[in-house]
Amino acid sequence: MKILFVCLGNICRSPLAEGILRKLSPELEIDSAGTSNFHIGSPPDHRMIETARQHDIDISELAARQFVTKDFEYFDKIVVMDAANYRNVIRLAQDEDHKNKVVFALAENNDVPDPYFGGKEGFETVYQLLYNACQQILDSIEKR
Ligand code: 4NP
Repeated sequence: MKILFVCLGNICRSPLAEGILRKLSPELEIDSAGTSNFHIGSPPDHRMIETARQHDIDISELAARQFVTKDFEYFDKIVVMDAANYRNVIRLAQDEDHKNKVVFALAENNDVPDPYFGGKEGFETVYQLLYNACQQILDSIEKR
């Protein structure tokens, strides 16, 4: 099973989700990407690296990349953080099979808030939301 997490910059939400799920389930293949090209090649935001570290997760070695159409072929599940990510990913889908791979981390109309322009507490909130989301993803895989 190959899972791709997607957010806007690939420096806050999706790299954290990648780190959390990798720790919960080392046997899954997991990656993350951003819909934008803003931060290509950059490590995660230092505030998110620190939040992850507080939960014993090391995301400091990750590097941002942009989501590409080929990701629809390679990954089984594409997990987006918010409605804008959903629109930007779906826009690149070539068929229904691609579209059906795209799911929300929480739910439609329930975005994982973008912590980038906010305060430090926003990063911990994102951790809590994504930890629960990752557990639910694991449950859904195990029930198949
Ligand atoms: P992310 O957060 O999508 O969770 O990685 C953001 C990071 C950077 C920007 C926006 C959101 N930015 O505008 O540069």
